[in-house]
Amino acid sequence: MEVLAVAFSLALIFLTLLFIWRRSSNGGANLPPGSFGWPVLGESIEFLFGKPEKFVGDRMKKYSEEIFKTKILGEKTAVICGPNGHKFLFSNEQKLFTIFRPHPMQYLFRSYQNKSAAPPPQAPLADETKAIRQPGFFKPEALMRYLGAMDSITQRQLQIHCTDKTVVEVHPVAKTITLSLACQFFLGINNPERIARLVKYFDEVTVGMHSIMLNLPGTIFYRANKAAAAIRKELITLIKEKKQGMATGAPMQDILSHMIVVTDPSGKSMPEAEIADKIMGLLTAGYSTVATTITFLMKYVGLNPDVYEKVRAEQMEIAALKKAGELLEWEDMAKMKYSWNVICETMRLVPPLQGTFREVLTDFNYAGYTIPKGWKVYWTVTTTNMNPEYFKDPEKFNPSRYDEGEAPPPYTYVPFGGGPRMCPGKEYARLAMLAFIHNVVKDYKWEVIDPNEKVEGDMMPEPQKGLPIRLYHL
Ligand code: HEM
Repeated sequence: MEVLAVAFSLALIFLTLLFIWRRSSNGGANLPPGSFGWPVLGESIEFLFGKPEKFVGDRMKKYSEEIFKTKILGEKTAVICGPNGHKFLFSNEQKLFTIFRPHPMQYLFRSYQNKSAAPPPQAPLADETKAIRQPGFFKPEALMRYLGAMDSITQRQLQIHCTDKTVVEVHPVAKTITLSLACQFFLGINNPERIARLVKYFDEVTVGMHSIMLNLPGTIFYRANKAAAAIRKELITLIKEKKQGMATGAPMQDILSHMIVVTDPSGKSMPEAEIADKIMGLLTAGYSTVATTITFLMKYVGLNPDVYEKVRAEQMEIAALKKAGELLEWEDMAKMKYSWNVICETMRLVPPLQGTFREVLTDFNYAGYTIPKGWKVYWTVTTTNMNPEYFKDPEKFNPSRYDEGEAPPPYTYVPFGGGPRMCPGKEYARLAMLAFIHNVVKDYKWEVIDPNEKVEGDMMPEPQKGLPIRLYHL
């Protein structure tokens, strides 16, 4: 009996010491549950190459529905989950958190700075965000002016890629349409060969943004780096052309031209390499997101004839009020309620952007745990978008779930983020996607050739064979 009591006491002392040691090795902080994974790599492999929703879902089940720790892309990270997590994050911007881009992104988008130097905390794309938010390019007044051009570019692209075709691969077409729109509005160019070259490069950069930073031939990061250099070269040539054009008084209304003429408070213009990096960041942010949504919306609408009929009815009502050749106007977009629900449902099932990172500015407590200054925080739409508590029959494609009175609870549906950092391109994306839907249902009906086509790419989903469809011209 005595022996047992001694053994029990020793075990108790050992466990207490272990607890104290673990707490002191964490600087005394009560860190969130979770694992930092392997030395150096942490849990990056699982994060990058497992399904992102699985990575997060498994750990939410294992550790906590609210927060867990991990180490990804070289950083100790707290993943903050669920609607409460989203609300907390979006409400504490610049108080507790600031923007943080993973290292591969910093590297790819910072050619004009010393890459070997430690990046400043909110380094790489923060300024390009200012560029997009400040001059008002994406404010409704400006977008109103773009709308007609968006409509006509989309019509022309659909004609080029779909007229006389019975089978079309949606994903490459969606990418070309999206980049054609972006090239027109961001760069003021509409040269198809130039755009075709850029599509390929942007694909490589997009994949490389979330990859292991191994700059060796054959790796994803190496290819992304080469592609980024090629885009930069193309953009520098374009900047020089623009400058020449401006010198002769040619009118310039795109974002690139604005960046060329803008000066800092001391009157200094932005160096060409810096402009190229910022524009590349913007194009990347706005390119694959819209192309992915258009692609999967074609899939879901193609697989759901009742949804197709409702979208077509809505769009034909708008088209019927137009004279031949008349383009879409601002008021038309407000009438596309069901079509927007279809887009929303597509983004719920296939989130075009999983989530983003922040850097912690000061120690803070959340859900009973301490998150130390300097750690990163990751939030992702995948902690809510498939939860049956917020979305009944979450696997079902049901655009009517966004109808008035049935909208999902606050902070459960956040494909564009929220708070001060909410996607600045949201309205532009909305118009581009609605202009697409308008034109495609007006002239075509389609059938998805392989409804079970595999979806590849964990961070950037894409159909393995490009989503071939059988087109019927109406
Ligand atoms: C379906 C289309 C799109 C989706 C779902 C989407 C989603 C998002 C999300 C989730 C964020 C992160 C917000 C955060 O960190 O809290 C973001 C940021 C951003 N998006 Fe979008 N986006 C889309 C289209 C666009 C377009 C078309 C543009 C450009 C015209 C754009 C430009 C940006 C930029 C510059 C940021 C960084 C903002 C910042 O850090 O302050 N996005 N987007």
